[in-house]
Amino acid sequence: MNPLRILLLCHSFNSLTQRLFAELRAAGHSVSVELDIAERVTEEALALFAPDLLLAPFLRRRLPASVWQRLPCLVLHPGPPGDRGPSALDWALLHAQTDWGVTVLQANDDLDAGPVWAQARFPLRAASKGSVYRREVTQAALQAVNEAVARFASGARAAPAWSGPAPPPHWQPLLRQSERAIDWAEDSSATVLAKIRSADGQPGVLDTLWGQPCYLSDAHLASPAGLAAFTDAAPGALLAVRDGALLRRTRDAGVWIGQARLVGADGQKTFKQAAASLFAEATALPLRPVPLQRAADEWGELRYTEHGPAHARVGCLSFDFYNGAMSTARCERLHAALLQVLQRPTKVLLLLGGEDFFSNGIDLNSIEAAAQRDGDSAADASWRNINAMNDLALAILHISDRLSVAVLRGNAGAGGAFLALAADQAWAHDGVVLNPHYKNMGNLYGSEYWTYLLPRRLGEAGAHALMAQRLPLLARCALQCGLIDRCDAAPEGFAARCLQHALALACSADWPARLAAKQAQRQQDEAQRPLADYRAQELARMQRNFYGFDPSYHVARHHFVYKQAHAWTPRHLAVHR
Ligand code: COA
Repeated sequence: MNPLRILLLCHSFNSLTQRLFAELRAAGHSVSVELDIAERVTEEALALFAPDLLLAPFLRRRLPASVWQRLPCLVLHPGPPGDRGPSALDWALLHAQTDWGVTVLQANDDLDAGPVWAQARFPLRAASKGSVYRREVTQAALQAVNEAVARFASGARAAPAWSGPAPPPHWQPLLRQSERAIDWAEDSSATVLAKIRSADGQPGVLDTLWGQPCYLSDAHLASPAGLAAFTDAAPGALLAVRDGALLRRTRDAGVWIGQARLVGADGQKTFKQAAASLFAEATALPLRPVPLQRAADEWGELRYTEHGPAHARVGCLSFDFYNGAMSTARCERLHAALLQVLQRPTKVLLLLGGEDFFSNGIDLNSIEAAAQRDGDSAADASWRNINAMNDLALAILHISDRLSVAVLRGNAGAGGAFLALAADQAWAHDGVVLNPHYKNMGNLYGSEYWTYLLPRRLGEAGAHALMAQRLPLLARCALQCGLIDRCDAAPEGFAARCLQHALALACSADWPARLAAKQAQRQQDEAQRPLADYRAQELARMQRNFYGFDPSYHVARHHFVYKQAHAWTPRHLAVHR
């Protein structure tokens, strides 16, 4: 295939755009990125980069005519051909569609109605919008974009002709809050879940908690057993707290609400936080923690299962934290759970992270919240959080009586990527994108023992290069360079295949030799330079990031948490500048 010059124009360099960026580059194309800041800036990028093709995977507004008249522009729409409008996935999830898709269209003066270059379909999972976007939509987008780009690279300059009648255009307007407002007295749990999921991660469903207007996200069905104590409660009543989430009665059952965002006074911007942490009233509710091993229908962030014969047991510890954000409290809960499961006689421990993200490091939202609390500060909260992450990473590094494996079912970024490397092995699948670097967050130095973990896998030069380039890395490229140890072909069935592999490892003849080798290596490494020394050196740099004169980290975090529009495209992405 002829290599092309492709300009990615996007509202933000989100996970879908990152995947396309990395895949198109891996396929040999020359790719540059421009954030959609202003028409003039995009025109400037066209002049500087002179692309063959513009690809717009994630835009929040229409492409200007001055751009699409100048070169072929392919826009990704997260809906099947015919579907049009700005809330495609929201409507599909709200209406519980079962079959959905993505379309690659050529931009023209008719929004979402240009000629169709490619499409891909998928069964629509009953999950949050963000989860479907990061998994099915991203996978389908890659397939459709590859098809469209291959067609373009082969010399075609027009979309393929439709076989059969073209699908009828179906314009769906912006989904408004009134259309997904929850009627707690009338709506079933299924309806409540569909409404919240259709708005999750953004904008959330506008509702009230203790009379205060706020947007709800991160909803999970409560189990009948969990509701047994509350059968007399009225629909809408707030009943209990677990893992920072609030249990709320519905007409026919109940839901756990994990995240809420207050409506700001006078239109002030706000951000999502653990729902219970936002309201003093929540402290009066009963706490309902759950054991790590429990029925599948009982929601909780942490879960542990065990498998295999008595002499070769495999433990699986999952930590499904919203957005992979690991606050101090979450790190401490996970640390306690880890110590608990290490009491079990397993030979291999799988650390499964969450379904959508393995981990994205310290929780920038909860740190931002500390900045608004009397007697606390963002610097202190950052310090507590990175220390809690380090304690967790250290506990993983200290596992000496069994093999540990980080299983990346979803993406991992910043400290979350290094947390995975604290395990003996890291396994991922081909849909995973890693961001194993910190600098994008205001030049953060980073900790989580990365100065020990990265060079031992990549060497000093390789570690330095990876940290400096600040780019997303496909799991198969991470495997090639030795950053991870396995890359499975497909996300479907990945966790089950990992378990089979772990079971084989647990009863393999070389398990004792592997364990002995790891113990010897750790002892040798410790003798050469203690882990405490790596930690002290990293934290000395982090202390400067948090408490020093240069406010870059605090500024970058503030912008990230409040989702402030970008004023310019980072130079490591806009290679044309
Ligand atoms: N803390 C709090 N929230 C986080 C987070 C973190 N560390 N990392 C991601 N999120 C949230 C985002 O705000 C976004 O929220 P939304 O549900 O309101 O949309 C959501 O997770 C998805 O993040 P997004 O940036 O859209 O995901 P992505 O897959 O496109 O990008 C990253 C992944 C890792 C590149 C990006 O999220 C990031 O840079 N995160 C910060 C990592 C970091 O610097 N951690 C601190 C240092 S250890």
